[in-house]
Amino acid sequence: MSIYLDHNATTPIDERVFEAMLPYLKGSCYGNPSSQHRQGRESQQALEHARAQVAMLVGVRPRQVIFTSGGTEANNLALKGMVAAGSGLVVAATEHSSVLEAASALQQCTDCPLAFVGVDEDGVVSTAEFERVLAEHKTALVSVMLANNETGVVQDVEQLSEIARRRGVIMHTDAVQALGKMDIDFDGLGVSAMSLSAHKIGGPKGVGALVVEKGLMLQPMIHGGGHEAGLRAGTENLAGIVGFGEAAALIQLGLEARTEHCERLRDRTEQVLQKIAGVVVFAQQVKRLSNTLFFAVEGIEGSTLLMSLDRDGIAVSSGSACASGSGEPSHVLKAMGVDDSLAHGAVRVSFGSSNTMKDVEQLISTLQEQVESLLKLNSGWT
Ligand SMILES: Cc1ncc(COP(=O)(O)O)c(C=O)c1O
Repeated sequence: MSIYLDHNATTPIDERVFEAMLPYLKGSCYGNPSSQHRQGRESQQALEHARAQVAMLVGVRPRQVIFTSGGTEANNLALKGMVAAGSGLVVAATEHSSVLEAASALQQCTDCPLAFVGVDEDGVVSTAEFERVLAEHKTALVSVMLANNETGVVQDVEQLSEIARRRGVIMHTDAVQALGKMDIDFDGLGVSAMSLSAHKIGGPKGVGALVVEKGLMLQPMIHGGGHEAGLRAGTENLAGIVGFGEAAALIQLGLEARTEHCERLRDRTEQVLQKIAGVVVFAQQVKRLSNTLFFAVEGIEGSTLLMSLDRDGIAVSSGSACASGSGEPSHVLKAMGVDDSLAHGAVRVSFGSSNTMKDVEQLISTLQEQVESLLKLNSGWT
């Protein structure tokens, strides 16, 4: 038996995406999109078709989509490409490591002043805190993610971007986790740039995009040929990009049914979990992605629970994939003011459309058994 409940870490590639990619991996479509002969032109067409598919998913013009090697590169390009040396940068404390580390590198390498926006106990960036930080720190760019990868908390980016705009500050949002799990309208969000990744929506790993506002001034990070409007040099990962385009087109279908399905699975799990003594569910009272459940059991290490579930064929995560194994409690929970000992116990379950109620019942009964036996073990009772 194998039950995969870690869809925020990555999703299995959709069979139809794989089929669409095949001709670009081993078939006749091998031309370099920059070449001018027939094979090159065919590849160029495929590239532009994928760009239009991704653009359509978030409501922008194709030329606003810059393909990258994934969400990490898109976040790096946004921050490093938009912040001029010496100007200020503000990021939310709960951002993904690709934003936090890029921000810290900018601070070290360019002396760019860096400040953090805190979150409340539910992981939400309040407008008051946002206003305060922008008022107190010299800021050219602010980055706040649309949905958090650990808690699933959805920020009111539309409202935050309005505040930023009033202050003449440009805003970026990391929408990697939100993509395919909620409607995203780039213009409606009011940001100047937004990061996306293919492998969270049934596409391949190693491809993503930065979506930019028309006319945005952006410096490339990778220099070379004039690919991607001069903003990201290097022969394109065409098979990956074609896969991203196909995944974008497919994920658009049945969004409502998918989110409702995931919500039913999540709510049923949560309902039972709450009856177990010592269980704390994080960010339960605020707007969250419908597929995400982040919880901890007092007195049990998240990594221990993860390993015992894994032994029983159930895949979950103890915090974000990048942070797990680091031994450090989740920085997201720290920012929410959660006690270190409880934060160490955090486990994330993230559902996908392929999961069923049978998976949930199996998860619940396994969890109940394991929590009971781990607590007995910890208390020295045998
Ligand atoms: C919120 C968020 N941003 C960025 C990334 C990085 O994306 P990628 O794996 O495509 O580099 C992830 C991946 O886990 C993520 O969850």
